[in-house]
Amino acid sequence: MTTTTPATPNESPTRSDVSHDAIENLSREDRAFPPSAEFAAQANATAALYDAAAADRIAFWEEQARGLQWEKPWHTALDWSGAPFAKWFDGGKLNVAVNCVDRHVAAGHGAQVAYHFEGEPGDSRDITYAELLTEVCRAANALESLGVRAGDRVAIYLPMIPEAAVAMLACARIGAVHSVVFGGFSAEALRSRIEDAQAVLVITSDGGHRKGKPMALKPAVDEAVAASPSVRNVLVVKRTGQDVEWTDKDLWWHDVVDAQPDTHEAASFDAEHPLFILYTSGTTGKPKGILHTTGGYLTQVTYTHRTVFDLKPDTDVFWCTADIGWVTGHSYVVYGPLANRATSLMYEGTPDTPHNGRWWELVEKYRVSILYTAPTAIRTFMKWGEDIPARFDMSSLRVLGSVGEPINPEAWMWYRRVIGGERCPIVDTWWQTETGGIMISPLPGVTETKPGSAMTALPGIGAQVVDDEARPVGNGGGGYLVLTEPWPAMLRGIWGDNQRYVDTYWSRWNGLYFAGDGAKLDEDGAIWLLGRVDDVMNVSGHRISTTEVESALVSHPSVAESAVVGASDDMTGQGIVAFVILREGVDPGENVVADLRNHVAHEIGPIAKPRQILLVAELPKTRSGKIMRRLLRDIAEHREIGDVTTLADANVMTLIGQGLDSANAED
Ligand code: WT7
Repeated sequence: MTTTTPATPNESPTRSDVSHDAIENLSREDRAFPPSAEFAAQANATAALYDAAAADRIAFWEEQARGLQWEKPWHTALDWSGAPFAKWFDGGKLNVAVNCVDRHVAAGHGAQVAYHFEGEPGDSRDITYAELLTEVCRAANALESLGVRAGDRVAIYLPMIPEAAVAMLACARIGAVHSVVFGGFSAEALRSRIEDAQAVLVITSDGGHRKGKPMALKPAVDEAVAASPSVRNVLVVKRTGQDVEWTDKDLWWHDVVDAQPDTHEAASFDAEHPLFILYTSGTTGKPKGILHTTGGYLTQVTYTHRTVFDLKPDTDVFWCTADIGWVTGHSYVVYGPLANRATSLMYEGTPDTPHNGRWWELVEKYRVSILYTAPTAIRTFMKWGEDIPARFDMSSLRVLGSVGEPINPEAWMWYRRVIGGERCPIVDTWWQTETGGIMISPLPGVTETKPGSAMTALPGIGAQVVDDEARPVGNGGGGYLVLTEPWPAMLRGIWGDNQRYVDTYWSRWNGLYFAGDGAKLDEDGAIWLLGRVDDVMNVSGHRISTTEVESALVSHPSVAESAVVGASDDMTGQGIVAFVILREGVDPGENVVADLRNHVAHEIGPIAKPRQILLVAELPKTRSGKIMRRLLRDIAEHREIGDVTTLADANVMTLIGQGLDSANAED
């Protein structure tokens, strides 16, 4: 089945056939925003895309692939005979860097800015497509001069500086496989990723600027490389000028790269040539190296970037705030935007340096028109207060995007009103490191949006919500999100462990990719993501998603952010424990906890009323902004706190622990 719209009643059981929802559907949202006629009239996407993909999904993807420059056309669009190992555009040959850079310069757009770079200390630099081409060619020559060959793995451990994109593109240009490791990760995390991929080269810098200070990167590299015999050289970008130790493997980027010829003849590679590995944490210890390849990946990120963000290359300024250490940075800071000849903003630092309005100052300065960020950031800005963005001119914004977590309806409404001035469509985009590109999202100008819903699968993508027996749940039902058809940017496996790939994603139900997320369909068939199924709570036999209770809490005017966990309970199996951050300036008062409990009961029903609410100043999050509910469960169940090494801020757990005695609200 190649459906791109949610299940119709014909193929799904009605609600009464399903004895028990796999996950309860508790909340209801009646607000909806149809596209404005004005936006629709100029939108890149039209409803015809859905029809074209439904009529012939493979032909639809071939049409998208033809937007790229191929040296040799493919003979087979999709070979799924080795499922779940896909081959897309088999027989085709192309070069990713040529598609992202050279072809735009050749078409006369060399003077267009590819990146406006803004460093945290306020230094800035515009890089045109012509300059980017020169830099990528020099870097490609440099890698070759160091003996890096097609298929070799290169680890990249850099802050958000232009050299990060240049390094990725230089690898792609020569067919080397990059493995970007987020600069906030430890020496040990870097070492284990270098070892798993057997990287021959590490590209790093002395440091980067973060929260007003130079943050060193080189010491972690020194430690990791000392224990990594596969690494022959370390190429070091000078960013902060801080002191660094020097080993005999080390070379300065400016010494090696700047001395190279500024042209480079690019070879083409098979569509299935590996492009990159990106490690994502698994449920068991060892991180998974998610493998992506060339032709299908570039096709999907280019198509989704153009249609989901409505990118107009001549006029837009696109800002994806993700770090290149995450897949969002790969697909929507580097490959998608460059393939579409976008002008992007790249910002090195944090949103609160040197002041809480830094992002909005940048929107004003660069006239940013498309902003793509994460719910965790939006909720932080809600907490800081709307008077901060109100100080800046944000009239350039025209599309807003969200990714990484379910966005609570109230955070969505705030984003729309305060950041988008009520005029910008919001695209809530669901996808994963594994999917490579956006999978479920509204298309601005085409799809109606609802606050908190990612709406429907994009044209060309098959998604369903199913129950424990893989039966599609009807509209109004809740269950597990699955992908029903192979897609071009899908992962091609886990580096060095194909069995783990099959076991992790394809073993729960025959022929369906299980994403690990809970989801529900509303009465109109729109998809609502409910968080990771591992986080679902079981209260008196009801399977309740943490997302729904969190959204109910955030819909209270006093609440900025919340995290909900299930803690073991003698009576009910699990009881709901909520951690809540109040908005700035809200007086906790005597009744706030009782009010919040009643508010949840009122919004989604008494079954979801938290057993306990704890008022806290911070929540434990990973560096990519996801809440670490595992640690909160430790607190809620009065256990010793588990491993905190992936926490963005290790002090948070101490802070939460200290607040507990005073805020304990159990009744
Ligand atoms: C997980 C994937 C995709 C790039 C960033 C994260 C959650 C992602 C949404 C969304 C609800 C979302 C899911 C998914 N997620 N986007 N729009 N609504 N949940 O990549 O680190 O691989 O995480 O993030 O749980 O499975 P990732």
